[in-house]
Amino acid sequence: MTRIAIITGSTRPGRRGGNVTDWVLEAAGRHRPEVTFEVLDLHDHALPHLDETAPAIFGAYERAHTLHWAEAVGAYDGFVFVVPEYNHSFPAPLKNAIDFLYAEWNDKAAGFVTYGINGGVRAAEHLRQVLAELKVATVRTQVALSIHHDFAISDPLEPGTLTPGPHQEPALTTMLDEVVAWAGALKSLRVPA
Ligand SMILES: Cc1cc2nc3c(=O)[nH]c(=O)nc-3n(C[C@H](O)[C@H](O)[C@H](O)COP(=O)(O)O)c2cc1C
Repeated sequence: MTRIAIITGSTRPGRRGGNVTDWVLEAAGRHRPEVTFEVLDLHDHALPHLDETAPAIFGAYERAHTLHWAEAVGAYDGFVFVVPEYNHSFPAPLKNAIDFLYAEWNDKAAGFVTYGINGGVRAAEHLRQVLAELKVATVRTQVALSIHHDFAISDPLEPGTLTPGPHQEPALTTMLDEVVAWAGALKSLRVPA
């Protein structure tokens, strides 16, 4: 059984990321019922600013929260990152959470569902660079949700409602198929724990 984590990459009170994560989880379960999809929400892990002595590549985790996060990430074969664009990149709490670990990311697949004024595409481009260093294979197809066209927002301080255009779910299912295929193929590279 292939296991894919849907990582909610924003932690802001009133975030839109919760609605986007729910949409991804529901569509993923419907499209690929034989695959396990679970939400990994940064908000639930509440990691502090990186406080490990050794860089994660040494695998010498000392803190309970790091071990807990490592166990969570290590349980999956691949990831779907649900990520907004913040200042032409992805949110700092997500970078911090990525930096805590190393081996748990290695030789796994990932895809992106981004959102922002222009679909959040710059968040994904930065994230691809970071994940390459962690030996994560990032798939081509990407979902880019526009704040203006794929959400109904009456108050900019409220999350509003996700109203994805008709082309978005086909993009999502194509991306999911790519992630599941690569996650399966990369299993043979990983040493069983
Ligand atoms: C700190 C911050 C910086 C932002 N910078 C950008 C940006 O550079 N480009 C963009 O398209 N949207 C930007 N936005 C808008 C967000 O993409 C949009 O508000 C999105 O809903 C934020 O995700 P969240 O609701 O899950 O926190 C920014 C929002 C925040 C909070």
